[in-house]
Amino acid sequence: VSATTAEKPRKRYPGEAKGFVEEMRFVAMKLHTKEQAKEGEKEVKQPEERPVQRWEPSVDGYLKFLVDSKLVYDTLEGIIDKAPFPSCGVTVVLLSAKSSFFFRFPASVVRSNDKNKVISLMWSASDAEFIDTGLERSEKLAKDLQWFKEQGYTIPEPSSPGVTYAEYLKELSEKDPQAFICHFYNIYFAHSAGGRMIGKKVAEKILDKKELEFYKWDGDLSQLLQNVRDKLNKVAESWTREEKNHCLEETEKSFKYSGDILRLILS
Ligand code: HEM
Repeated sequence: VSATTAEKPRKRYPGEAKGFVEEMRFVAMKLHTKEQAKEGEKEVKQPEERPVQRWEPSVDGYLKFLVDSKLVYDTLEGIIDKAPFPSCGVTVVLLSAKSSFFFRFPASVVRSNDKNKVISLMWSASDAEFIDTGLERSEKLAKDLQWFKEQGYTIPEPSSPGVTYAEYLKELSEKDPQAFICHFYNIYFAHSAGGRMIGKKVAEKILDKKELEFYKWDGDLSQLLQNVRDKLNKVAESWTREEKNHCLEETEKSFKYSGDILRLILS
């Protein structure tokens, strides 16, 4: 048997041929229920997993959802804004025993030999790419909350689901770039898909069809999403298979944290 025929074909992951975003999407779609999306496979267990058409939302609950969502977007967008801008960085190749990484960061931090620093530098390299994608939601949500205030509603303080998720995202941004990217992808892409549908249905039921800024994007949304997909695919190209799997495995947590916030609409 020649060396070539004896070689086992490497395991292919669903979506792999199209790039890593397709792998993330594949895992995410399975975590939907059939009611939520036709590719869904999960059983309905939580109230927010029931068909949106049958939800009985309240304005107070929806306001809690918007406030907690804003805290999550503020946190996410704050983390990304702090990342060094790619053009003021230098490209460096780090060689470790197992793999090498290409990334850019300001020369001042190149001197660090500390292992933990290296992890956060790798992350800085990728998050800098995600500034001003056009998907940001923080300012849009600020406008919506202002509108509710003008209508006479009292804006609540953030509640436990939002506070817990925001803390978790901060923690990941410091120590786990692959897991952070998983949340980044799911938060923005979920909002562009199911999130929009939820916004429309809820507005029909309780807001006299008022279209909130949260559901409006400046520019062509499908193009903005495609630009981010391309960047995510590029970032993941430098990851090992283990790092990619670690990112995919975080999807369940992303659904859990976002589900807890979505459920506020029904509270
Ligand atoms: C896509 C519904 C919650 C992540 C979608 C799609 C629908 C949907 C209809 C589009 C499927 C298609 O392309 O044909 C819903 C509903 C939800 C919900 C009704 C809750 C009531 C979530 C949650 C997450 C999530 C909690 C993760 C945090 C995603 C992702 C996509 C998606 C990543 C793929 C978007 C893309 O293809 O660009 N969802 N979803 N969804 N959803 Fe959800």
